Amino acid sequence: MAMNENNTFSTDTRAALNAAEQSDFSFDCTQNDGQPLTLSTLQKQAEGLSETRPSAPANRKKVAIVATGGTIAGSGRIGESAQYKAGTLSVDSILETIPQINELAELDIHTYCSKDSNDITLEDGLGIKKLVESLCDDPTIDGVVITHGTDTLEETAFFLNLVLNVNKPVVMTGAMRPATATSADGPMNLYQSVALAAHPYARNMGVLVVIGDTIYSGRDLTKINSIKTDAFEVGDPGPVGYMQDDQVFMVHQPYRRHTIYSHFCQNPGPLDKKVEIFYVHINSDPKLLSYMLETYDGVVLAGTGAGNYSNAIKDVIESYTGDCVIVRSSRLLEGSAFDSPVFDPKQITIPALRLSPHKTRILLLLGLSQNLSKHQIRQLYREY
Ligand code: SIN
Repeated sequence: MAMNENNTFSTDTRAALNAAEQSDFSFDCTQNDGQPLTLSTLQKQAEGLSETRPSAPANRKKVAIVATGGTIAGSGRIGESAQYKAGTLSVDSILETIPQINELAELDIHTYCSKDSNDITLEDGLGIKKLVESLCDDPTIDGVVITHGTDTLEETAFFLNLVLNVNKPVVMTGAMRPATATSADGPMNLYQSVALAAHPYARNMGVLVVIGDTIYSGRDLTKINSIKTDAFEVGDPGPVGYMQDDQVFMVHQPYRRHTIYSHFCQNPGPLDKKVEIFYVHINSDPKLLSYMLETYDGVVLAGTGAGNYSNAIKDVIESYTGDCVIVRSSRLLEGSAFDSPVFDPKQITIPALRLSPHKTRILLLLGLSQNLSKHQIRQLYREY
């Protein structure tokens, strides 16, 4: 439609718009029954479609919400995003701002803890597993939403993806702005997470995460931005789907082993091994790596490029004769750490493929805690 330089429609365009309005936007096309397709028939069809949404009263779902804290439950000076304390508000106080959420599902609220996610531990992860599994044992519960701080959300999401013994939808979410900020993002993220947890498409998909209208696999997502509400990325695998309001649009299924298909879902504990990450950079201190190999049961190398390191680091690895298991990951968001005939010709290390160093650490900890052999741990990185 042409506009003139005063940013108003030209007379011809205005006349065309008027004619279209009066004709109910009748296009030169027909439906299967030969009737013209008009705006009002489209509206009627849309109303018909909306009857299949999970919010329809006849099909009311029940979703449990498990709160753990984070910015989504944070509060500070009204209107501001920067100065606040995470994990101070109850889920109920967030829910009060989105009454329409009750049309999606009956809600069953539980508070596991109220922590900044930097204080969440994998032992908390085991506690959350227990709570989510007991909620899913209830036949009236259709799905579970877990609210969590965004800083370590990807670690808890990956851990739960490996240890939860459930196939009902489990959806995690968080927020970048506290609940008291202008245009807080938490309420919409929570609303969409409940819609997804109530949806049959989310069954058997492992732990999913909804942030900013996007559905991610808990295995893949990484926080990449410390300020923006669109703070997460998945790199090469791409998102699992998208949300528009309460509508779910799935685009692919996670392929790697998760939840009921995971070796760790029956008995992951007691997580009694020690695993740390050695960050590779220019001038990385080889003595620090030697110390770590003597101190820990497992060491993850956050290597450059495809999991690479200097000759000084290579010398430490090649001269090490102890039992510490070394896994090579990449500090990059994209690509993979493969077996390397250049950096590790003797295959002393295990390549983590596409997992980030901190997710590599979680899988190594689980494998070592189950006393898996080095060969079995190598296989883990191919399957999970
Ligand atoms: C936290 O991770 O608990 C604080 C930061 C956030 O949720 O965005």
